[in-house]
Amino acid sequence: MAINFVSASTLLSSSILLLLISSCSSTSSGNVLKPEDRLHSGEHLSIGNYKFAMQTDCNLVLYENETVLWASKTQGVGTNCNLYFRVNGELLIISGLGSPVWRSETGGAYGNYELVLQPNGNVVIYASTVWSTGTSSPVRSIHAPPSKTLINNP
Ligand SMILES: *[C@@H]1O[C@H](CO)[C@@H](O)[C@H](O)[C@H]1NC(C)=O
Repeated sequence: MAINFVSASTLLSSSILLLLISSCSSTSSGNVLKPEDRLHSGEHLSIGNYKFAMQTDCNLVLYENETVLWASKTQGVGTNCNLYFRVNGELLIISGLGSPVWRSETGGAYGNYELVLQPNGNVVIYASTVWSTGTSSPVRSIHAPPSKTLINNP
């Protein structure tokens, strides 16, 4: 029982530390979505030369400068489309009329997911940490191994 309590509180304090680190970095860079975050029609994430845009034509597009690297191919499918990042880790485009027009099909258990437009141009959804030794440095903890990747999603 005592051991369980210690590991649970270690996990909890690691999570709080991670949250603190993430919120510090998110103030300077608009490249992260947290569960329940959304990108409204016309809004985008960006870092370096990369832009992940929920366009007003309903297409979700990843650009490097002006070059399209990836797109949801949903242009014209709806108007006033918003991008939702759900607590189950799924990314969803919903039209202004309320109908889902595209989904990443990555939905799982509820968790502390994070979508990151990485400086290397990859858009990645990270899942919750299931277990850790709690010994990572701040830099390493931000670059946890990816769980699901959006690139090549049909
Ligand atoms: C984007 O712009 C940067 C800076 O000008 C350049 O280094 C890079 O090669 C460009 N990438 C593409 C795909 O055009």
